[in-house]
Amino acid sequence: MTAAGTLSTLADELAAADSRTQTVDPVTIVIFGGGGDLAHRKLLPALYNLHLDGLLPPRIAIVGVGRKAMTDQEYRDFARDGVTQFSRRPLDPEAWEHFSGSLYFVAASIDDDRGDDARALAALGSRLDIIEHERGLPGNRIYYLAIPPSLFVPTVKQLDRARFIPHPRPGAPAKVPFARLIVEKPIGHDLDSARAINDAIAQVFEEKDIYRIDHYLGKETVQNILVLRFANSILEPLLNQKYVDHVQITVAEQEGVGTRAGYYEQAGALRDMVQNHLLQLLSTTSLEPPRSLEADVVRDQKLEVLLSLRRLEGEAVDRYVVRGQYTAGFDAGKPVPGYREERGVRPDSRTETFVALEAFIDNWRWAGVPLFLRTGKRLPKRASEISIHLKAVPPVLFNAKPHGQLDPNVLSIRIQPDEGFALGINSKIPGPKVRVYPVKMDFHYGSTFGGSSPEAYERLLLDVMAGDPTLFMRRDAVEAAWRWVMPILERWQSSSDPIPTYPAGEWGPPEADRLIQAEGRQWRPL
Ligand code: BG6
Repeated sequence: MTAAGTLSTLADELAAADSRTQTVDPVTIVIFGGGGDLAHRKLLPALYNLHLDGLLPPRIAIVGVGRKAMTDQEYRDFARDGVTQFSRRPLDPEAWEHFSGSLYFVAASIDDDRGDDARALAALGSRLDIIEHERGLPGNRIYYLAIPPSLFVPTVKQLDRARFIPHPRPGAPAKVPFARLIVEKPIGHDLDSARAINDAIAQVFEEKDIYRIDHYLGKETVQNILVLRFANSILEPLLNQKYVDHVQITVAEQEGVGTRAGYYEQAGALRDMVQNHLLQLLSTTSLEPPRSLEADVVRDQKLEVLLSLRRLEGEAVDRYVVRGQYTAGFDAGKPVPGYREERGVRPDSRTETFVALEAFIDNWRWAGVPLFLRTGKRLPKRASEISIHLKAVPPVLFNAKPHGQLDPNVLSIRIQPDEGFALGINSKIPGPKVRVYPVKMDFHYGSTFGGSSPEAYERLLLDVMAGDPTLFMRRDAVEAAWRWVMPILERWQSSSDPIPTYPAGEWGPPEADRLIQAEGRQWRPL
């Protein structure tokens, strides 16, 4: 797949067309945790990039809410610092000037759902009224919970108590402003706590107004999976048990736990990555063709996949699921500590930093096709990929030699970095002899479309403003995913076996290789 030159203008044209078709009403975005890491690294840079692309509504206010008092100017400086460090495009002074005028900060702290805190929100409420009045905003609100999960429920209750959610009055003809809620993962620690959070939120917001973020769904390459599958007649007919030998999904991280031990010690890789990101990748790769692209039609099909996953319970967990924890090793040649030596980690921690597992989707399309998933921290590189390994051709003609068998075709979808996809195809090497060599048809976003793809948070924030929940997790899917991982967590909790380890900078413990090799397969080198 050769790129027909660099089509940077194509990307620009499409962005311009998008901006013409997207209808986004004026809105106030209230970020709880507005002075925190997520806002600094992701949300404020994403909003700035949407501004650069002309995709924000002409009237908007972005109000950070946090414990630590800041003036509006201090908050603008904080945002500027985040944009300078983390934006995919450099800060343009003129555009910044315009954008930063929409940023405000209000100090408020919600520690629990006692009545006292309602006063904190009362102050926020009057400030929002003033800002909205000054900027001519109609009171449409997006509340973003970029705060620890223990504060989700208290915050939502306070929003309700402080009457931040407009409810249409019976018989009132006027259109009421919208109030939408964005919730970051983790939604719960297990199935029960996820249900409790969902129940509490449902008391205040309708499901249609709740946007549960899984930022993997906002990645361009993940959105492209459906296009690849359903806009190309060459691929979809092959993606089933008749032709596919197995599927691999790897999300590898090079970094260690960093400064997040407080959260990660309670989570581990299964909760942090598999329950959400990897299962979302799996369901997007394997769902049945939806009858339309409407949010609930697509989300119904994804739910079907989650419900069709074979449950791994009891001894099946020991057989099909491998966990691991990194020990001291190397990152790009530099020595790095083991997980148990990281700041904030217990010296006898049993938290897994790596998971590999073999899953099966027990439906007509995928019956008998193993799906191998793996993810971990402190692996040799940052690389996320889905590869679909087709069955070998019959052992005749070019594949007749028992030694030197042909490479089966592999479709690999690179989620990040070097976004794109490749198809391995066997081809004849020029010359008098018939020698077959696997060549690659390779597509790279960078060289074909030029520029940098929008960050996941740009797309997701825009979708919330536009009221499109397609790329967000519905309550039933979150709970179905928890239901599937629960027996794995329970098996691990009841076991006192030592956790397999791997030195930082290697591809997980040897048990992960044995898992896939047991049936004569190999992890695809990344
Ligand atoms: C987050 C996890 O959801 O995803 C982190 O909590 C992880 O532990 C991160 O590092 C990975 O995201 P990305 O986009 O960098 O692959």
